[in-house]
Amino acid sequence: MTTQTQEQDGAGAATANESLTITDNRTGKQYEIPIEDGTIRATELRNIKVEEDDFGLMTYDPAYMATASCRSAITFIDGEKGILEYRGYPIEQLAERSSYLEVAYLLIHGELPTKDQLDEWIHQITIHTFVHENIKEFMHGFRYDAHPMGMLLASVSALSTFYPEATAIKDPDVRYIQVIRMLAKMPTLAAFSFRHNQGKPYVYPDNELSYPGNFLSMIYKMTEIRYEPDPRLEHALDVLFILHADHEQNASTSAVRSVGSTQVDPYSAVAAGVAALYGPLHGGANEAALRMLRRIESKDNIPDFIKGVKEGEERLMGFGHRVYKNYDPRAKIIKKAVEDVLEVTGTNPLLDIALELEKIALEDEYFVDRKLYPNVDFYSGLIYEALGMPMEMFPVLFAIGRTSGWIAQWLEMIDDKEQKIARPRQIYTGERGRDYVPIDRRS
Ligand code: CMC
Repeated sequence: MTTQTQEQDGAGAATANESLTITDNRTGKQYEIPIEDGTIRATELRNIKVEEDDFGLMTYDPAYMATASCRSAITFIDGEKGILEYRGYPIEQLAERSSYLEVAYLLIHGELPTKDQLDEWIHQITIHTFVHENIKEFMHGFRYDAHPMGMLLASVSALSTFYPEATAIKDPDVRYIQVIRMLAKMPTLAAFSFRHNQGKPYVYPDNELSYPGNFLSMIYKMTEIRYEPDPRLEHALDVLFILHADHEQNASTSAVRSVGSTQVDPYSAVAAGVAALYGPLHGGANEAALRMLRRIESKDNIPDFIKGVKEGEERLMGFGHRVYKNYDPRAKIIKKAVEDVLEVTGTNPLLDIALELEKIALEDEYFVDRKLYPNVDFYSGLIYEALGMPMEMFPVLFAIGRTSGWIAQWLEMIDDKEQKIARPRQIYTGERGRDYVPIDRRS
């Protein structure tokens, strides 16, 4: 008998309701495994053995299709119903009534701040927006046309060399200042990457502006004494940051957790998140969606395009989601924000194509049967484009928003007594016990 996986002696053994009874047909033995929160602990399976010195059973789950890797109290998603909540607050309310920095506070501290707490939080982040002058030198080393996401990735990890004390991850005070620095400096690094790529001089932060306003200033300011962001664009960018702030255990967040589990400093862990987000399957789908809309070119071409998608020639980018089997709640909010932004920047014929495409797809059996709805990326590229961002900046903007989620998840992991270094197992499929062959005797 083991402590939790109860190996049972016979069919008459009692079975609790919240448990799973497994019969190992290799041995005829039965095991009872507790079910907690709709999961079983994979380590329970290790007790299922044929011989006493066996390793025990494992699960095989490439891409983590059915594996919970942590307990988390940060973000809740109900993919069937299309619900997204940060710390229990619906994304719709936060997008409408909160600000990105308030949401960052909520994700990181678990509660909405009081007025004083928020003022102090904003003040701290604002006074940490400048980066060491050497960062500029470092940026200069990149090729003139370097991809801004590659530059962001390198410069975030470089921050660990500027703040070597950040390795003291067990010290809450040390952790806290890195949290502030990371949130404060991410837009600066992102903007410097953009300006380098454009061959334009870097713009220092303007601490009189809001978080999104300052970012717009660092992106667009040229010869004017002070850049005055359009409040409607400032607001739209803030909403985009809120919508991208966290999305539970997505690929980049699990990269942050996995790398962070080695107890490395938070800059290095967050750099892993930026790297994961660089991938076209994660941070790049909005670019693909925009390219697709451009290629469709006119509403008249939509039926042909849809036909091609249904015949498997390509995918309708910005549609479908691993978790959402309903309208992605973020897509609804972005759709509204696109209209607001285009009011300022002028119409974009691609929006009409997108709206028509969505309408046709949502009525089409192929998409209905597969529960394919617009996701966050269907409309976000249109906003970024309207804000004057080149496509290379799309994942960079995503990374600024997601930084608060990465940090919140990293902090949660550090305090989680159950977490250890993340180290999956494998099923070995290679050769064994071969003798080394000298090179002149190999065929
Ligand atoms: N267009 C056409 N068919 C699709 C699409 C699509 N966008 N997405 C899924 N399908 C079909 C797919 O062909 C399959 O059909 P069948 O059962 O006949 O083989 C079925 O729907 C299930 O698809 P799947 O590939 O098994 O689903 P998945 O959960 O592995 O993939 C996805 C999710 C997001 C990768 C996929 O829907 C996709 O490629 N979408 C387009 C890319 C995109 O918009 N990505 C952004 C995701 S949101 C980003 C974020 O939240 O961070």
